[in-house]
Amino acid sequence: MEKRKQMYEGKAKKVYETDDPEIVIVDYKDDATAFNGLKKGSIKGKGVINNQMSNMLMQGLEKKGVPTHFVKELSERETAVKRVEILPLEVIIRNISAGSFSKRYGVEEGIVFDEPTIEFSYKNDDLGDPLLNDDHAIALKLCTREELATVKKYAFLVNDFLKEIWKSCNVTLVDFKIEFGRLKDGTIVLADEISPDTCRLWDATTGEKLDKDRFRRDLGGVEEAYEEVMKRLKGQLD
Ligand code: TMP
Repeated sequence: MEKRKQMYEGKAKKVYETDDPEIVIVDYKDDATAFNGLKKGSIKGKGVINNQMSNMLMQGLEKKGVPTHFVKELSERETAVKRVEILPLEVIIRNISAGSFSKRYGVEEGIVFDEPTIEFSYKNDDLGDPLLNDDHAIALKLCTREELATVKKYAFLVNDFLKEIWKSCNVTLVDFKIEFGRLKDGTIVLADEISPDTCRLWDATTGEKLDKDRFRRDLGGVEEAYEEVMKRLKGQLD
């Protein structure tokens, strides 16, 4: 597979074309942003960890029946993935109150829900990724009803899988954000990444935050937290 010209540069990844029109290469950066790009920084080694962690988790998800964009890990930071058209939806599952949920509804962080919740944001930086419901997504033609049903089904399967695997690492999965894409033939697959950038992960014993909230909230020990969760996950999956 031959890496060709850069198609796109996002906040955390670059995407390149290849000689295969259905395959692209993602290249994970150490750059970190928060609050819609307002806060900028770098987390040393993050690109390597996010690339490898996302690939490990997506391969596990494939086995559980969730199709993903993953094709092949090419290097520490680079992975070949299926070319998709990203659905402009951020799909967020929550098991425990935190972050914008706590802020929006005026509740403390750490309330364990009886059942996981799902919500969607419109992936649009200019608008600040506003929340939207199913009908809004359909009205805006972001996806079809059928696609939305598929996305929801997969999102809860992803939650079941991630909750279990993180539990075995003595880590509590609080919430996470995932994105889906459409292959050329219309198949919906899990895309983007699953990493400490996109999940809230708390140590199950101490409650210590082991994810990007350390960067967002200036808690220090950011690199160490990413390394710690990666080490625990590798210990489980090896
Ligand atoms: P929130 O509580 O800020 O809405 O975040 C919910 C989850 O989504 C949390 O695990 C962090 C993740 N997330 C992203 O991956 N990207 C984003 O841009 C935001 C705002 C949250």
